[in-house]
Amino acid sequence: MKNRVLEAEGVVTGYGEVEILHGVDIVVHEAEIVAIIGPNGAGKSTFLKAVFGLLKVDPGRISLMGEECTNKRPDELVLKGLGYVPQVDNVFASLTINENLEMGAYVLSDGAGDRYERVYEMFPDLAGRRGELAGRLSGGQRQMLALARALMLDPKVLLLDEPSASLSPKMVGVIFERIAAINESGTAILLVEQNTKEALSVSDRGYVLATGENRLEGEARGLLENEDVGKLYLGT
Ligand SMILES: Nc1ncnc2c1ncn2[C@@H]1O[C@H](COP(=O)(O)OP(=O)(O)OP(=O)(O)O)[C@@H](O)[C@H]1O
Ligand SMILES: [Mg+2]
Repeated sequence: MKNRVLEAEGVVTGYGEVEILHGVDIVVHEAEIVAIIGPNGAGKSTFLKAVFGLLKVDPGRISLMGEECTNKRPDELVLKGLGYVPQVDNVFASLTINENLEMGAYVLSDGAGDRYERVYEMFPDLAGRRGELAGRLSGGQRQMLALARALMLDPKVLLLDEPSASLSPKMVGVIFERIAAINESGTAILLVEQNTKEALSVSDRGYVLATGENRLEGEARGLLENEDVGKLYLGT
């Protein structure tokens, strides 16, 4: 049995008085890619925000690498190995590419050392443009930069919220290749996606969320072949 690097049990959260998640359970094992799919408004982004300490979880329990981390602050969580790329506004447009990476590493008291070069090696397109403003990048390049920034802290678990949203089909393929490469290098990934087919194709397991609750879960291949999932999300 593989280690559980992220475990969420009975997560209840929302915005102000409005409860959005009514007790969600999700597990990510070491080295896995796990997809969360489901309709608009299901609470997928809300779940990632709750795991990353941006929304209060009550009741519910979240643990990272076996250690209870419920309602810890994001800066504490990143030091424990959690990374997060939000769905929108995930780069600083008025900063350069290099400054964006610097922001990714600001919580490290002893600086980022050789991490810049390691990250630039994974994203050679960014390496050649490190002095350029992020605001001038294309949508796909911005997503690359957002991924690159999250990798500056060498996370053990990375939360990705729709990394392929509004990209061209070619760029979608490139982003998924990069996600697979990040996973190969030892980072477990929890991936929220609208591109259901592509997401399940790179994933080991998947969860379907609907109206703030777990609806279905299983091996990614099984979900791809599941009739209900096909009808609802794959257009088959
Ligand atoms: N900041 C907010 N304040 C109040 N309600 C919010 C806020 N963000 C999201 N919601 C509500 O929470 C519910 C779940 O939203 P969420 O963004 O988690 O859905 P999602 O599954 O990520 O959808 P999508 O696929 O469209 O990204 C929706 O009803 C939404 O209107
Ligand atoms: Mg969302």
